[in-house]
Amino acid sequence: MKPSPYVVTGATSRTGSVVANALLDAGLPVRVLGRSLDRLKPLAERGAEPLAVDPLDSRGLRRALAGAEAAYVMLQPNYIPDSPDFRGFQDRVVDALGAALDGSGVRRAVTLSSWGADKPSGNGPVAGLHHLEKRMEQVEGLSVVHLRAGYFMENTLGQIGVIHARGVAASPFRPEVEMPMVATRDIGAAAARLLMDGEFTGHAAREFQGQRDLSMAGATAVIGRSLGRPELAYEQDCLDRFRAELAAAGCAPNVVELMVEVVEAINSGWIRTLEPRSEDNTTPTSFEAFVQGQWLPRYGAQ
Ligand SMILES: NC(=O)c1ccc[n+]([C@@H]2O[C@H](COP(=O)([O-])OP(=O)(O)OC[C@H]3O[C@@H](n4cnc5c(N)ncnc54)[C@H](OP(=O)(O)O)[C@@H]3O)[C@@H](O)[C@H]2O)c1
Repeated sequence: MKPSPYVVTGATSRTGSVVANALLDAGLPVRVLGRSLDRLKPLAERGAEPLAVDPLDSRGLRRALAGAEAAYVMLQPNYIPDSPDFRGFQDRVVDALGAALDGSGVRRAVTLSSWGADKPSGNGPVAGLHHLEKRMEQVEGLSVVHLRAGYFMENTLGQIGVIHARGVAASPFRPEVEMPMVATRDIGAAAARLLMDGEFTGHAAREFQGQRDLSMAGATAVIGRSLGRPELAYEQDCLDRFRAELAAAGCAPNVVELMVEVVEAINSGWIRTLEPRSEDNTTPTSFEAFVQGQWLPRYGAQ
């Protein structure tokens, strides 16, 4: 009998691709889902079974989950800038995933969630992840770990253009607010470990807080040192400027307001970690290593 596959949704995403590759590295059978077979090709070439499925297609998802050992479940992408209703889109993806999992026989899943997903509202797009968690918990017979990731280090890559244009790092985050900054590769690795070790039962949320907490001022200091510009300053932009820049970049009004809401939630502490930092929720990649590996090559290229 063929062994049951591990199903990875969002397999071309930053986290999903790491999950899929880690499972393949371990020699496990992996079914990878995305909207295009072409984009799934690198994983197929490594031996994964690729399936083109739209995240809103519950029947397609159901077929993809058939006979699965376990699943990595995520809401991709981070944002659709020109979406007419991004929160509505997230809810429809969650509904499709829930309908596909109900009665599917899949017994274990790791969901990609976020710090702040304990709150149902006031947290921008993280409300979609709250809904994802709750819906997964309604699937009968499914044991699920919600992997509550901190603030992605990759979000800071947007600062490259800002520094080139303005000579400073700038965003609407308060300079001193500490965030659990985490690299997406560490999230993918943690998710793969959970799926493989997976003796979990019931429902649980686990935070992954990165290597250490870091504020925007602290992150800017690391970037400045790495660029050989130790004087690099961080400026907090007002929300009106933030809104105007997002709109000028083509973001729909509903998306702009979600981004504003998540910033305000982090600035005010509405979004915060709930677990004390520990060995279990600390991940290896330091911001220094992230800047060396991901930031500097892009900075030089822009
Ligand atoms: N940013 C943060 O700080 C943060 C923190 C915690 C949690 N999160 C959560 O992490 C998740 C994102 O994870 P990630 O960074 O690994 O994903 P990601 O890289 O943003 O996902 C990108 C994938 O989404 C698919 N995609 C792109 N545009 C799409 C569209 N218009 N409709 C449907 N699918 C589309 C593409 O896959 P295909 O083309 O192959 O279909 C693409 O490879 C989100 O749920 C986010 O809320 C984010």
